[in-house]
Amino acid sequence: HRRVRIRDLHTAKEHGERWPMLTSYDQYTAIIFDEAGIPVLLVGDSASNNVFGYDTTLPVTVDDLLPLVRAVVRSTQRALVIADLPFGSFEASAEQALGTAVRFMKAGAQAVKLEGGRRVAPQVEALTGAGIPVMAHIGFTPQHEHTLGGYRVQGRGSDGDRLVHDAICLAEAGAFAVVLEMVPSEVAKRITGELRIPTVGIGAGPNCDAQVLVWQDMAGLRGGKLPRFVKQYADMRTVLNDAVAHYADEVRTGQFPTDAHSFE
Ligand code: KIV
Ligand code: NA
Repeated sequence: HRRVRIRDLHTAKEHGERWPMLTSYDQYTAIIFDEAGIPVLLVGDSASNNVFGYDTTLPVTVDDLLPLVRAVVRSTQRALVIADLPFGSFEASAEQALGTAVRFMKAGAQAVKLEGGRRVAPQVEALTGAGIPVMAHIGFTPQHEHTLGGYRVQGRGSDGDRLVHDAICLAEAGAFAVVLEMVPSEVAKRITGELRIPTVGIGAGPNCDAQVLVWQDMAGLRGGKLPRFVKQYADMRTVLNDAVAHYADEVRTGQFPTDAHSFE
């Protein structure tokens, strides 16, 4: 069982085979998703919201994410593990991006992901040149939510051309794939057709080469109103709610522990 490689993802596109990607931030989800055959796992900066309890992805740091990357790498045998470069760790220069990416690669990641359009092409080129595969990420980029004016679909109308051009620039800079987040299906379809590298959709319609979701959204662990692009495949929040209520009740009423859980 060797690890999935970038080559395999490019071959999949050539053969018209779609692949699923999920976030993972810890041992057990990494083991379960790896055993399920998810070929690509992302240690996303969405850990900011989904692990560390912040409102946005902005506060999470490289030092926060490194131990999560190590955990996911240690817990997988087959999946390609991608580390997300957090806000503030790569924008200033290609040198800054390289310094950050090297830290993640030394932690065992096999690729990194970074947000932004053609402005970050120099970063993509520097990393790729140094032997670090880069997944790009355009459309709605959560690290830019304050300039984008919140969670909004990007690339509507004539703005679609800008996204197509960004995708081409990033592919030419050496990106091995590009995430398209919250873009109209038609734009995603255009980009998918124009590029030889795979597109990974999230809120980008049914015509991308791959799909990604945050695992807590996919598995129904997160409460509240879900974005339109999420499909919930389980109701883990209810499962855990029921389990914890049952446990608390049995402790309070003396039904647990019994002799069966005790030592003589
Ligand atoms: O951090 C993240 O979870 C992501 C994916 C949603 C693409 O960037
Ligand atoms: Na991210």
